[in-house]
Amino acid sequence: MEQVRAAITAVGHFLPEDRLTNADLEKMVETSDEWIQSRTGIKERRILKDPTKATSFMATNAAQEVLRKRGISAEELDLVIVATVTPDMFFPATACLVTANLGAVNAWGYDISAACSGFLFALSTGARFIESGKHTKVLVIGADKMSSIVDYTDRTTCVLFGDGAGAVLLEPDSSGHGVIDSIEHTDGTQWSSLCMLGGGSLNPPSAATLEARMHYLHQEGAPVFKSAVKGMADVSAQIMEDNNLSGDDVRYLVPHQANLRIIDATARRMGISMDKVMLNIERYGNTTAATIPLCLADWEADLKKGDNLVLAAFGGGFTWGAAYVKWAYDGSNHV
Ligand code: ACO
Repeated sequence: MEQVRAAITAVGHFLPEDRLTNADLEKMVETSDEWIQSRTGIKERRILKDPTKATSFMATNAAQEVLRKRGISAEELDLVIVATVTPDMFFPATACLVTANLGAVNAWGYDISAACSGFLFALSTGARFIESGKHTKVLVIGADKMSSIVDYTDRTTCVLFGDGAGAVLLEPDSSGHGVIDSIEHTDGTQWSSLCMLGGGSLNPPSAATLEARMHYLHQEGAPVFKSAVKGMADVSAQIMEDNNLSGDDVRYLVPHQANLRIIDATARRMGISMDKVMLNIERYGNTTAATIPLCLADWEADLKKGDNLVLAAFGGGFTWGAAYVKWAYDGSNHV
């Protein structure tokens, strides 16, 4: 009998309605549409403007879409994992708030903090609970309200990020579909090139941390860019080699959407053309843990049972990884 694997059986998403365009940013900082598009590929991002709503709100909406599409109730969920670096608060975990919002009374849940690799790390973790036989319905969510930690006076970062959430349901599959393989990496030696210094136990909130703008995301773009190009391309090539996949075998690369140039370098290294790359950075910017499930949601109708997908990400930590997923259903039946 085939090994039990964790198949993605439904996808959901949530995007706030408000758009922040490059033209809007031109009025806020010294930048230009031409600079942003040529360096990153981004035209606009979505922003959750309502100050009373946070990451759990977006995550809950994405999760509800998953439940609706799959036709199951929240009571059937065993586990909810939320990948985020913008939790509603330090604790309780955003997953606790989401299970409460959903009415997932039989599920336990927790958050994973792995920045832009968060969804991949959560997918890999959730898959283990399915493969082991412990659970049969695991909800994996990537959600970030990046606008809550972006400094809109810093032109080097404020043009990059947006808000959003995406979610997938994992269920057991014994017919060769699901998460076939994954590779995860962490290297903390360069942590300070992408971080938020204030608010934790090292620099608790104070007048001094506020004054020093330590409660905003900080990024040194060039070193992160260099490591991201290498990390994402290497790990994607590795997962293809480990699973004897050629460029022709891959239906889609599903890359974290941080920068079009990083994605382009990864696709070239994998030997696949850009028409086989899921790309929505132009419309949403970098939504951190949400980028990969947002791509899956946008392309769901086009996906066929048996399609080979390579998911890949690189982010703060540094964290990076890839997953080889054999798609488990015809998406057109599900939308
Ligand atoms: N508008 C105009 N000029 C700008 C802007 C802007 N928005 N931002 C920076 N510049 C200027 C800089 O000040 C610099 O000027 P200088 O030469 O006079 O000093 C010049 O443009 C070049 O700056 P660089 O940082 O070298 O620009 P680069 O080509 O590297 O692009 C970018 C910057 C887009 C941030 C790129 O470095 C990048 O994509 N880095 C990786 C991002 C990433 O992958 N992050 C990981 C995931 S995020 C996460 O985990 C949360």
